[in-house]
Amino acid sequence: MNLAYKLNKKDAIGVVLMTALLVALFYFRGVDYDPGVSESCEKCSTDVGSMERAGHFEEMLWNGALHVHHSSNDNLVQFTRSNGLVAADKSSVKNCIDCHSEGADAVAPSLGQLWVKFPRLDKETGRIIDFEKAVQYEFVKRYGGTKPFYNDVRITEIMVYAFEKARQKGLVFDVEPDDGVPLTNEQLDALETSPVCRNVFDEYGVPKGDIAPYIVKGCNIFTQTNKYRPAGYSLFWDTRMNCTSCHLNGGTKEYAAHMADAAVNYPMVYSSQNIVYTNRMRIARCYAHSINEVLYGSNSEFYKLIGLYIAWIGEKNQLPVGTVRASRGVHNIRGTAAQHASNMAGQKAYVEKCQQCHGPAGYGTDKYDNDPFLHPPPITGSDSFVRTATMSYPERFASFIQNNMPPGSTHEHPQITEQEALDIAEFIQAQTRPSSPSTNNLSVFYNYMINRVMEWWFAEKTGANI
Ligand code: HEC
Ligand code: HEC
Ligand code: HEC
Repeated sequence: MNLAYKLNKKDAIGVVLMTALLVALFYFRGVDYDPGVSESCEKCSTDVGSMERAGHFEEMLWNGALHVHHSSNDNLVQFTRSNGLVAADKSSVKNCIDCHSEGADAVAPSLGQLWVKFPRLDKETGRIIDFEKAVQYEFVKRYGGTKPFYNDVRITEIMVYAFEKARQKGLVFDVEPDDGVPLTNEQLDALETSPVCRNVFDEYGVPKGDIAPYIVKGCNIFTQTNKYRPAGYSLFWDTRMNCTSCHLNGGTKEYAAHMADAAVNYPMVYSSQNIVYTNRMRIARCYAHSINEVLYGSNSEFYKLIGLYIAWIGEKNQLPVGTVRASRGVHNIRGTAAQHASNMAGQKAYVEKCQQCHGPAGYGTDKYDNDPFLHPPPITGSDSFVRTATMSYPERFASFIQNNMPPGSTHEHPQITEQEALDIAEFIQAQTRPSSPSTNNLSVFYNYMINRVMEWWFAEKTGANI
């Protein structure tokens, strides 16, 4: 057919051109700098210690140790190349571990100690710096050049290393200065602190020091996610869910994915995807799948502010890095054969126990709008979480509602039986919801384009990354 012929011809030209380009690049792009082989690292095995986490995490940790001990290897090759630097004398290059050692004579704190100090406030720019960003800038600072180093996998490996060091020492997050002055009521008012955040501060104490307003901002985004969206996004569509819709009480309720557990357990391997999720990525995942929001740039200030709030919750709970509490996350109720879930029974239970708040079709309701603590979000339909969100797995959903719904329920005092939870999950599972992120309002492509334009526009206007 004519079309096939044309395609083939174009393809052939394309392949020839691309091959020529690759060959040219290969020949003319010489390696400036080759400071040594990364495979051998005698110190690494003792440094890394006994491996308690298997598989991919171990591999990332090992790579992290290699990078830290030979910060000079392929990290630096790429870095010096992208900055057009000329190779320095190998022996004069200092590795991360030369300065950030664990010894008493170290010129800089160990990477484990630094891990729990992030995210921190950069007072000069008024921006929040997370560990990921700090390592990127360390490259510029220690090895010259002007461009930050953006190789996410290498940075993640260094993060896994720092996390593991903090875990081995049982360190606790320390992002708030102990001697800082707490925000006053007037300051909390000026920051439009949400009612849910005020409750959190009643329980944990009002945030202190220069970083306090940023902790409040992070909490506000967490509890009023729709209100605090990047400029311009709300012109096109709203989201009706907040992080706190599921991470109840501002992320401080056990068995409702408490944020202290999130603070101390990332980076973490997701074995189903065989990748390491950093804290930023985990937050972004919930933005996309649970809130059904378009994604912001991975460097977004929003993720960092939420990350700071989460680390602060970790600090307030005094949870050592790596602790896995029994109440972490949202559990699973798998059910037994005898508990066979029934859609019909689920519908009946839903009408009796859930409908008054979540509406007859599950789309939520606005009848409680005057109550700052009672905004029943949609649990079905186009404004709800998407099919790929964890909440959408029936066994998770069942456990979440048994431990948390109706409001006031706890793990110790549930208000519905396991059987009812399974039935309602079955019934809800059969209703409609978006199949994947951002498919409810506009096509994925349209979202993507708007996202890019908005990022550009926002950066032009404010000099900030969203
Ligand atoms: C020549 C010594 C030296 C080398 C090499 C070095 N650092 Fe540092 N680093 C320091 C010192 C000193 C500080 C603390 C004071 C400062 O910020 O200047 C620091 C600070 C940091 C911080 C905190 C930065 C912040 O924003 O507060 C991180 C994270 C860090 N280093 C990671 C690394 C990593 C990862 C490497 C290897 C790629 C590395 N460093 C290489 C000396 C070094
Ligand atoms: C529709 C409900 C829902 C919403 C809304 C939601 N999440 Fe989640 N989130 C979950 C579930 C379910 C999990 C998985 C818990 C587990 O793995 O056991 C989770 C996990 C997380 C984790 C990891 C927790 C851990 O212990 O590993 C973080 C961090 C997180 N969410 C952040 C957020 C942020 C930030 C927002 C708002 C942008 C948000 N979530 C909105 C349901 C939700
Ligand atoms: C008194 C009103 C009320 C009742 C009754 C109630 N809910 Fe909720 N539900 C809420 C509120 C409010 C939230 C959000 C919590 C927040 O923002 O703090 C919520 C959140 C949820 C969420 C997580 C957020 C989301 O949109 O997915 C699910 C799932 C849920 N409810 C299911 C149920 C089920 C199933 C029942 C019946 C067993 C039920 N609820 C009964 C008020 C209610």
